[in-house]
Formats: sequence, structure tokens, C-alpha cells
Amino acid sequence: MRLAVLASGRGSNLLAILDAIARGQLDAEVVGVFSDRAKAAALDHAREAGVPATALSAKGYPSREAFDEAMFSLVDAVHPDLIVCAGYMRLMSAASVNQRLGRMINIHPSLLPAFKGLHTHQQALDAGAAVHGASVHFVTAELDGGPVIAQARVPVLPGDDAERLAGRVLEREHPLLIATLRELAAGHIRLNKHGVQYDGATL
Ligand code: GRF
Repeated sequence: MRLAVLASGRGSNLLAILDAIARGQLDAEVVGVFSDRAKAAALDHAREAGVPATALSAKGYPSREAFDEAMFSLVDAVHPDLIVCAGYMRLMSAASVNQRLGRMINIHPSLLPAFKGLHTHQQALDAGAAVHGASVHFVTAELDGGPVIAQARVPVLPGDDAERLAGRVLEREHPLLIATLRELAAGHIRLNKHGVQYDGATL
């Protein structure tokens, strides 16, 4: 499975993917990493792994649509089977997303549909949630609103602040993403008009 990864920052999920591939735990190849931020550490991780890394700033593009067209033409050029948004912090235009339905996933640090958007750990604390976690979902035009594929749950512990809780969630994000990618690579999961279809998947 050819993967294109979109990332805006630290790139720990990208690193988890690259590690899993290197260890033979995921039958996939990262064929390109793309970022809207030239300084994203994710781009350095890609280069260190010998993966083509591309930054494209949205500055100078007249609209979200125009930027997304430019970005996705770069992504399409590496012919990915699946696009993985791993900490990609830009809203994407409906047209670009809709053209890639079922071929683009996102990892989000909450138990969707709870706590969409930013600052999810603080949102969970503010809401008094006892359980928090992470979700992998197919990307649709609704922000963090696409069909959920798999989730990992973590307890919220007494004394947690957003940072501690984020750390506990992140530890679970990486194996969740790898397990999901493994099932997608095996062809066990697809999106159809009824939602996510699991065909012998072990998630
Ligand atoms: C992760 O928490 C991910 O769920 C969210 O953004 C963060 C990205 O982290 N979408 P990293 O860049 O993969 O380290």
C-alpha cells in the first residue's frame, strides 16, 4: 500500500508509521510526506528515512480551494493508495475531500464524536470526562466528522492536566494508527454508502 502522509508538526505518528514499516510490521511504503509548514519536524523525519518531503505554504493562494488543489496535485503525483492526515492542521475544502472519499484517513485525539477540533484534551478535562482517547476516521467534508474506523480509550486520572492526558493518549495513538493501517493494507476495511465495512478485520 502506497501511503502519502500529510503533517503540519512534530510527526510522531509519521515516525510510528516509518518504524512499523522498517520493522516489517506494516506492509506499506510511505511515498511522500507533505506539509503546509516548511519547519514541520515531520519533514525532517521523512528526509531522514529517505522519503520525499514537500512543503507548500498556503500564503499567496487566493482561497482554500486553490491551495488544496495545488497541494493535492502534488500528493496525487506520488500515486498514493491512501492519504494519512497525521497532525495536518488545515481545514480542507469539501471538493478536495469529496474527490478522495474512502481514500483519506485522519487520526484525531479524542473519542469522536466527542471533542472535535482543537484542544481536545482540555475539552475532555473541562467536560469532566472519565474516559478519553483517540480515533481514526475516514475524512469527509465535516471537520473530524467522518465515519470512525477504530478508537483507543484511555482513563482520565486524578490530577491530569492537558499535557499529561495528551501524553497518555499519544502512546495509544501510534499503535491504533498502525493497527488500522495494517487492516486497510490487507483490504479488510473500506468505506461504502452504509459506512465503514469491516471484512474480517481484527480491530
Ligand atoms: C496527534 O495528537 C494527532 O492525533 C493530532 O495531532 C497530533 C499530531 O501529532 N491530529 P504528531 O505530529 O503525529 O506527533
